Amino acid sequence: MQILITGVAGFIGYHLAKRLLIEGYEIYGVDNLNDYYDISLKQARLDQLLPQKNFKFNLLDIGHRSSVMELFKECVFDHVIHLAAQAGVRYSLENPEIYIDSNLVGFANILEGCRHTYINHLVFASSSSVYGSNKKVPFSVKDNVDRPVSLYAATKKANELMAHAYSHLYQIPITGLRFFTVYGPWGRPDMAYFKFVQAITEKKPIDVYNYGMMRRDFTYIDDVVEAIVRIIPKSPLNSLNQPPYKIHNLGNNNPVELKEFIKEIEIALKMKAIKNFLPMQPGDVLSTYADVDELVNEIGFKPTTTITQGIRQFVKWYQEFYQNNN
Ligand SMILES: NC(=O)c1ccc[n+]([C@@H]2O[C@H](COP(=O)([O-])OP(=O)(O)OC[C@H]3O[C@@H](n4cnc5c(N)ncnc54)[C@H](O)[C@@H]3O)[C@@H](O)[C@H]2O)c1
Repeated sequence: MQILITGVAGFIGYHLAKRLLIEGYEIYGVDNLNDYYDISLKQARLDQLLPQKNFKFNLLDIGHRSSVMELFKECVFDHVIHLAAQAGVRYSLENPEIYIDSNLVGFANILEGCRHTYINHLVFASSSSVYGSNKKVPFSVKDNVDRPVSLYAATKKANELMAHAYSHLYQIPITGLRFFTVYGPWGRPDMAYFKFVQAITEKKPIDVYNYGMMRRDFTYIDDVVEAIVRIIPKSPLNSLNQPPYKIHNLGNNNPVELKEFIKEIEIALKMKAIKNFLPMQPGDVLSTYADVDELVNEIGFKPTTTITQGIRQFVKWYQEFYQNNN
């Protein structure tokens, strides 16, 4: 059974590929290894995967239509896990064109690839950012998400709509997963928890937005991977004139205050943070909180890793990785 993972050198793609290789799947990974953050970290993740017998890698930009069409012509995929995207809310304020190329054109190319071949299931990454400034918590997949507050969020919502249309028109089984602030070892250097650990270690101040009054439903990477592995065989079926299409929240269902989160990092590092309190950033949201009832019904699994356990694991990895690579 061959699975295509796009964004395989990324944080979630790497962990998922590693796990699926253990499960016995053949993995075909693609990534353009762009320089949005430290390429050597992406390469280091890839270096863990490349020696494995059932792993193939193709340096490919999903925004290039002909390359994607060729890929789907040459290879047969049982499932497609689409994770490649330009992530980050703040970066989308200055670099909107990258979001159009990777998240909209790239996504359309993946849908087209799936349309012209037979696949069992396309699973793609959406985001909690689609909930924008919604006030009702926890966020449910039944809530209205028509008011994105960043271009990044708008591209993720657009992906959900495009996927629905393709599922309806061509009967492609598709599941979109709205990830809620995924963190853990081998994580993304652009995310707050990574920057906090880096700055505190280097005795530099950390920027704490909205004066620390923000809540995030932090979701540990192993829980995210477990949920994706369980979702893969669960291709949605047609029901009551509805296409084979589903959206799920994938979050921890337990939001944590930013201040509390920083405290956990201080404990794990045994160091105090120098805090630079700042106002809210444009495009940011105050709170995220996932209702995961539908996901739990579907796969019989709920994320369980606490922030204390998760942060400890991240700090342990960070210290080992940067000690060995400095
Ligand atoms: N990590 C989170 O907290 C989080 C939250 C919500 C949604 N997501 C979504 O989950 C997915 C994976 O996120 P991640 O945290 O692993 O991010 P990541 O940036 O570490 O991984 C994405 C990978 O995709 C690759 N990529 C980007 N554009 C590409 C292109 N045009 N062609 C080929 N490869 C390309 C990048 O090089 C990168 O390796 C993304 O779609 C992201 O938007 C992540």
